[in-house]
Amino acid sequence: MFREPAGRPARALKGNHVKATAKAHPNIALVKYWGKRNERLILPHQSSLSVTLGPLSVTTSVEFTGERGDDDVRINGKDAQGSERSRVVELLGLVRKEHGGKLGAARMVSAGDFPAAAGLASSAAAFAALAVAARTAAGFDRDTKAESILARRGSGSASRSVQGGFVRWNRGKRPDGRDSFGEQLFDAKHWPELRMLVGMVSREEKEVKSRDGMRGTVETSPYYPAWAKDAEAEVKRIIPFIKRRDLEAVGAIAEKNAWRMHATAFAADPPLCYLKPETLAVIQTCRELRAKGLGVWFTLDAGPNPVLLTSAKDEAKVVKVLEQHGAREVVRCHPGGDAVLV
Ligand code: DP6
Repeated sequence: MFREPAGRPARALKGNHVKATAKAHPNIALVKYWGKRNERLILPHQSSLSVTLGPLSVTTSVEFTGERGDDDVRINGKDAQGSERSRVVELLGLVRKEHGGKLGAARMVSAGDFPAAAGLASSAAAFAALAVAARTAAGFDRDTKAESILARRGSGSASRSVQGGFVRWNRGKRPDGRDSFGEQLFDAKHWPELRMLVGMVSREEKEVKSRDGMRGTVETSPYYPAWAKDAEAEVKRIIPFIKRRDLEAVGAIAEKNAWRMHATAFAADPPLCYLKPETLAVIQTCRELRAKGLGVWFTLDAGPNPVLLTSAKDEAKVVKVLEQHGAREVVRCHPGGDAVLV
């Protein structure tokens, strides 16, 4: 037997297995997370700050069966394999440990409403939805801090997808990571006109995953300490501009921070380059549009698809020009809301 939480938090009823379903949005960092000080606990070297990407979402259901056996992990209609599966199993294990009772094996089903091949990282939304669903299914009340800490253990950036709007992932100081979680600074309604336009230039899987790329950068890039120090300062600097909805200042910091993350990665050994010629073409187009008076800036994660930051009034023009110059498709996003139980 299982019961749906139907929006209400489930009570902690040990031994009573329940099912819960949660939905979360991905996010795009305006000041990036790049590098861990603790690989196991996923603790970053620096704080980071992102905006949640509506309308894209991942929905995840978790049911604890109360039975012995292996967890059943299905992602986008397929049985998960390898590290994709083991990261989910590990997170479910953390929930079982915190609960302390006999939750048993879990059945987990997750699906995104945007193609994984779109080059947009779905792992942030997936682990945020998983953390919320798994804790609720285990009978815990909603607690965004605990959920963010749990989501962080799946993927660092997921700590910033439990809440909507503008979220800072605090670096924290504690070795156990209890002070390293996402904290909402402004909700999605704070800046509804902001647009994040993903310029799709490539659908190929990236050669080096973020996890490996950031490890290589921390270990071998001589610029890494400068990156970590600068990013920490940029998080503080960007907040008053977000508060004032100053797109020019926010865009300038986001662009500079993206260049600096990639510059640090270029300097790794072996060097890491996530940019493709088409990425640079879109970046160039963005600059030309700006020179013509349009308010548009770019940011770039560990992949080839730039995300352009603009406002609702310039959105149509920017999309049109992007489609003519380099982007095969443009995915339009706006600030999204909190992860919710559905
Ligand atoms: C470039 O959160 O995917 O997107 O913690 O190893 O799972 P792991 O890495 P992940 O890295 C995201 C890196 C980034 C920047 C960012 O989102 O802040």
